[in-house]
Amino acid sequence: MDIKVNQTGELTLGGISALKLADQYQTPLYVMEEDKILSAIRAYKDNFSKYYRGKAVVCYASKAFCCKEMYRICKREDICADVVSGGELATALSVGFPAERAFFHGNNKTEDELVLAVKSGVGIIIVDNLTELERVDKISASLGKITRVSFRIKPGIEAHTHDYMKTGQIDSKFGLALENGEALEAIRHVCSNYAHLELIGLHSHIGSQIFDAEPFMDSARVMLTFMKTVKETTGKTIRHLSLGGGLGVKYTDSDTPMPLSETIKMVSEAVMDECGKLGLELPEIAVEPGRSIVGEAGTTLYTVGSVKEIADIRNYIAVDGGMTDNPRYALYGSIYTVLIANRANEKKNYIAAVAGRCCESGDLIGKDMEIQKPVPGDILAVLTTGAYNYTMASNYNRVPRPAVVFVKDGESHIVVKRETYEDLYHLDV
Ligand code: LLP
Repeated sequence: MDIKVNQTGELTLGGISALKLADQYQTPLYVMEEDKILSAIRAYKDNFSKYYRGKAVVCYASKAFCCKEMYRICKREDICADVVSGGELATALSVGFPAERAFFHGNNKTEDELVLAVKSGVGIIIVDNLTELERVDKISASLGKITRVSFRIKPGIEAHTHDYMKTGQIDSKFGLALENGEALEAIRHVCSNYAHLELIGLHSHIGSQIFDAEPFMDSARVMLTFMKTVKETTGKTIRHLSLGGGLGVKYTDSDTPMPLSETIKMVSEAVMDECGKLGLELPEIAVEPGRSIVGEAGTTLYTVGSVKEIADIRNYIAVDGGMTDNPRYALYGSIYTVLIANRANEKKNYIAAVAGRCCESGDLIGKDMEIQKPVPGDILAVLTTGAYNYTMASNYNRVPRPAVVFVKDGESHIVVKRETYEDLYHLDV
């Protein structure tokens, strides 16, 4: 893990002591290292221009970490954004993120969300099913617009990841299957029946936290073969292919995601080779990374409240957050790396469960975590919390959500304020 420690043995983030951040902004606190976000975005762009001969579009999956500042970064870095709800789209638009660079996803978009998307002129609506296709056409007709659509396809590829994070198989709520002909049927429909839709692409997303290039290469081959079938049976040439997101990150030293450059090289070559074999022109490729852009940039800081040692059973370290700011252990049994930020260089000689503060036994950050022996008042850091933590946080037990702070070159600033008690009840009537 990439851990930086200063001369006094304190964990530093973006050149600032974690203790100083905890003191200045209070805990629990989400800290995001901006440089890591920027270098991940640039690595995607640079490696695609190096290895892919066609055009490649990087589209940040904002469900991983969504706030105004993140869309400002996407705007400045000239990339697209994948949005999955009216809320994400509205947040993007609120900071002047160009609608045409927002790609709208979701397996059951509401009428209101579709109206917002069509009205604001999003770049592509990724249509999930035939009912939605008809809805988008009707809305576009009533608003006098032509909407660019692509289809979410299940390529039938098995990704080796947690069951809840697999999406490419036929038994999935997302998209249209190839095996039973529904995908081809949808394409026939869009070409012949809908005057207010322009079919520009196909989309696949096989899952998340994937460590190898192989499943993406397989998925690309399946999708390209389907593009050829579409061309042969309908005469329609599809020029845009999204391969979705899903590249994994390091939560612990035993996680070994393939380096990004290698993955992009292999996937680009697979696409170019397959197009050669099938006699297809190189499509515009899109990718939708979320976790691999923001995951490793994030660290959550907590204050240790108490330490409970149950002889021969387990030690518990209670912190001032938990499943409300990071539900991933409760949901997926996710494993994290933790350390005591004020003694970051000391050997980890203690095993404990790190427990949250909710009235719920499953409210843990992890069960058998190696850590320096803590005392109340220590600052406990959980690494790699940049993705799917803030965005999945809740107010269970009416716990306010933590602030989000960006750090870079020794400077810090708040990008999301800490919730107050008033924020918690201001919608109550
Ligand atoms: N594109 C689509 C269509 C997606 O559904 C997702 C993630 C992504 C892109 C981004 O995938 P990433 O690059 O972040 O792996 N809550 C779970 C992860 C759910 C992922 C949902 N879709 C977690 O905490 O691990």
